[in-house]
Amino acid sequence: MIYIGIPVLGISGFWSGLKEQSLISYAKSLNGEENFLLSIINETVPKEFDSLYVPVESLINNYYPLIVLGLIIIAVFNVVRAKYFGRIKVQYPGSEVVSISKGTSILEASKIAKIPHQSMCGGKGRCSTCRVKVVSAQRSLPTPNAYEKKSIDRIGLEEDIRLACQLRPTSDLSVIPLVNPQNSLERVTNPVSLSGKEKETAILFIDLRNFTKLSEKKLPYDVVYILNKYYSVCGKIIESNLGRIDKFIGDGIMAIFDSSGEIGENCRNAVRAASEISENMNSLNGQMKIEFSEDIRFGMGIHAGDTIVGLMGYGKKFTETAVGDNVNVASRLEELTKTYTCELVISRYVADKAKLNLGKFNSNLVKIRGRKESMEILSISNAAEIKL
Ligand code: FES
Repeated sequence: MIYIGIPVLGISGFWSGLKEQSLISYAKSLNGEENFLLSIINETVPKEFDSLYVPVESLINNYYPLIVLGLIIIAVFNVVRAKYFGRIKVQYPGSEVVSISKGTSILEASKIAKIPHQSMCGGKGRCSTCRVKVVSAQRSLPTPNAYEKKSIDRIGLEEDIRLACQLRPTSDLSVIPLVNPQNSLERVTNPVSLSGKEKETAILFIDLRNFTKLSEKKLPYDVVYILNKYYSVCGKIIESNLGRIDKFIGDGIMAIFDSSGEIGENCRNAVRAASEISENMNSLNGQMKIEFSEDIRFGMGIHAGDTIVGLMGYGKKFTETAVGDNVNVASRLEELTKTYTCELVISRYVADKAKLNLGKFNSNLVKIRGRKESMEILSISNAAEIKL
């Protein structure tokens, strides 16, 4: 606050002084009208300041170079003080000690000393990969700020574990970074995607019902045939609606819709894909009934929100995937299709963003595992009926 407030006040003071000075100079340069303008100026300046006004003006005019010199001396003094006095020592494992000025975070200290330190979110307090264990501290540590508190509450960090990007120590301390700083993904060509990028995406989960039972009754090659048919139906529809298959999880599919920078568009694409999948699975089932005397039943869930999208994997195996709380919610919504015996469950957020006619579907408030607040969902028994 101080860092922003003082320069802003200084600049506005300087600006208003400049305006006043130019008005006075203009008034003085006029013949005849000067008395009128000076009278306006004098009226705006209270009488009590009359005695101060001229001295201040002449003070600025006469001592301007000295004032500038004074400011330069103060700035140099501050730099020297920050560099050589009141420094804080941060000790790392292996007795490496980094000296930092007050206000520097532990993560910045690691960067200054080129000590490898994980920071997946880039120091925004949105992950916990930079966390350190504070082994000892000369004085008590500053209390966690709002970002850090949120992470601490969410993942339940112990008192001596702090986020290095948020902790700005006020006294000497000794820390141990807790997440392995040697990133085994370094050899991948695009290091930016390794750290992931926060994106608002819509996530669609599809899962087959009773597939284990079905596969027990069928020959393995028949199972492969059925699965490939189902993958191909879903895959084509997902792609034609500008989504992409993130992964196949056994008989389940996770798809990401993030082609648009506008979340409403991504939600509409995901809902349209779900509707088309339902329609096409109905025709596939007609074929399955004839060929295997079976039909394929399935459930789908859609949720949207911020996720981290990036390359994840190990060695030479990497896939771009999305992770985060909202992905888990989409998966839970798909599971809820069993509870509500319906084809599709979507969050109210998705329905609003996709501009669905809400009156047509059943709405419920549900508790989602891992979430404190209840969530409003819509259950849709036949997704093919959704018209966008
Ligand atoms: S780098 Fe992500 S929280 Fe510190």
